[in-house]
Amino acid sequence: MPTFDLIVIGAGPGGYVCAIRAAQLGLKVACVEGRDTLGGTCLNVGCIPSKALLHATHSLHEAHQNFAKMGLDAGHVAVNWDRMQAYKAEVIGQNTKGIEFLFKKNKVTWLKGWASIPAPGKVQVGDEVHEARAIVIATGSEPSSLPGVPVDEKVIVTSTGALALPAIPKSMVVIGAGVIGLEMGSVYARLGAQVTVVEYLDAITPGMDAEIAKAFQKILQKQGLKFVLGAAVQGAEATGSGATVRYTLRKDGSAHEIAADVVLVATGRRPYTAGLGLEALGVEMLPRGQIRTDDHFRTSLPGLYAIGDAIVGPMLAHKAEDEGVAVAEIIAGKHGHVNYGVIPGVVYTTPEVASVGATEEQLKEQGRAYKVGKFSFMGNGRAKAVFQGDGMVKMLADKATDRILGCHIIGPGAGDLIHEVCVAMEFGASAEDLARTCHAHPTYSEAVREAALACGDGAIHA
Ligand code: NAI
Repeated sequence: MPTFDLIVIGAGPGGYVCAIRAAQLGLKVACVEGRDTLGGTCLNVGCIPSKALLHATHSLHEAHQNFAKMGLDAGHVAVNWDRMQAYKAEVIGQNTKGIEFLFKKNKVTWLKGWASIPAPGKVQVGDEVHEARAIVIATGSEPSSLPGVPVDEKVIVTSTGALALPAIPKSMVVIGAGVIGLEMGSVYARLGAQVTVVEYLDAITPGMDAEIAKAFQKILQKQGLKFVLGAAVQGAEATGSGATVRYTLRKDGSAHEIAADVVLVATGRRPYTAGLGLEALGVEMLPRGQIRTDDHFRTSLPGLYAIGDAIVGPMLAHKAEDEGVAVAEIIAGKHGHVNYGVIPGVVYTTPEVASVGATEEQLKEQGRAYKVGKFSFMGNGRAKAVFQGDGMVKMLADKATDRILGCHIIGPGAGDLIHEVCVAMEFGASAEDLARTCHAHPTYSEAVREAALACGDGAIHA
C-alpha cells in the first residue's frame, strides 16, 4: 500500500491549493516544499511582497501629490526603507503561516526538503522515499536572464533581488516592459529613482490590447518612467558604482549604453524542473522547457501529473490554482476542468490594468465581426473624486449576438472590476445582460456597465 494517495511537489499557489482540495475530497495527501516557508514564489518573493511595496509606495505618492489637495497637511512624509522592508516581511509571514495553518486544518502532511522522483510512484525527500498513487509536479518557474547579463542579485537583479534592495537606488534600468518590469519600476519611480525601461518590442506589455497598452504607457510616462522601445539588450556589466546596459536600436542597428545604480532583468521566467530526475524517467518535455501534459494534466509517465508554470500557458498564480483544483478533482475521480478562455490578467500598478478574453487585435486576426464599447473614467464620479479619472473600460462583443468576447480596463480597481466580466463570460452573457444589471452608485463598476451600454445604444455619461 502506498503511503499517500497523492504527493504534490511544490507548495506555491498551484501545489498548495491542489493539496488542500485533494485532502478535502478525502485523499491522504503530502506536499513537499524545500523552502523554510510555504507559498512558493508568489507568497515569498513574488505577488504578495510586491503588492506590499506597491501599496506602501502608492500611499507615499498620495501623501506627496494629493494630500494637500484634499486639505491634509501632513508635512513632509519621508521613507524609512528598513521599516518598509519590515512591513513587507510581516505581510509575507502572515500569508505563509496562513498556508501552514490550512495544511494542518486539512491534514496535509508537509514533507520538508527538496523532492526527486527516483522511480514511478516514488518521491524521495532527503533520505526518505515515499510512495504515492499519484504525483503532481507543481514546481513553478524561475527568472530567466539574458545572455551577457550576469545576475548577482545586488546590482544586476531579478525580481527577487529587486524586492530586497539594501537601499533605494537613485537610478534603475529595467530590461523588459512586461508585468514585473512595470510593477517594480513603478515602486522605485515612486520612491524617487529615475527609472528607464528598455524593451525589445515597439510597445509595452506584449499581448495586451494595443489601445490599452498605449494609454498605459502614456500614464506611466506622466508618472516619470522613461521608455526606450525597439531596443535589443546585448549585455550588462557591473561597474564600481552600478552597472551599464548595452543595447542596439532595432530600427537602425545603432549601439547605445545606459548606466544606473541598479539593473532589473525582467525578461520572462522559465519552468523550474531541475533536480526532479525527469530526464532519467524519460518524461516528455516541450522545446521551451515545460513538461508536456494532456488536457487532464497527465504527463507521459502514468500516475505523474503536472500543473502551473511548469506546463504551458500563462505564468499566473490563479491559472496554477485553478489547475491545482482541477487535477485534484481528476485524481479523486471527479471531473476537473479549467476554462482557459476566461483567465484574467492584472498589472498592479496605479492605475491597475486588467483584461480578460480576446484583444481587439486577436479578433481582427480571427476575422470576427465585433463591436467595441468604450467608457472613460473621466465620466465616473467616484474615480474623479480620488484623482483617478485617467483610463477607460473597453468592452468587445460579437457584432451579431452581442456575446462578450473580451474586456480591457485601465483605471482604479481594474483588477477587481474585471471579475464581473469574467462571471458574465462564464455564463455566456451578452453586453446587454451586463448593461441591464443594476450597478451601485457611486462605484468604479459603473464604468464597466457604461462600456457595456456603449456596445448597444450608447453610454449615459459619455
Ligand atoms: P514578461 O514576459 O511579462 O515580459 C518580458 C519583456 O521583456 C517582454 O516585453 C519582452 O519583449 C522583453 N524582452 C525580452 N528580451 C529582451 C531583450 N533582449 N531586450 C529588451 N527587452 C527584452 O516577463 P516578466 O515581466 O519577467 O514576468 C514573468 C512572468 O511572471 C510573466 O509570465 C508574468 O505574467 C508573470 N507575472 C505576473 C504578474 C501579475 O500577474 N501581476 C506579476 C509578475 C509576474
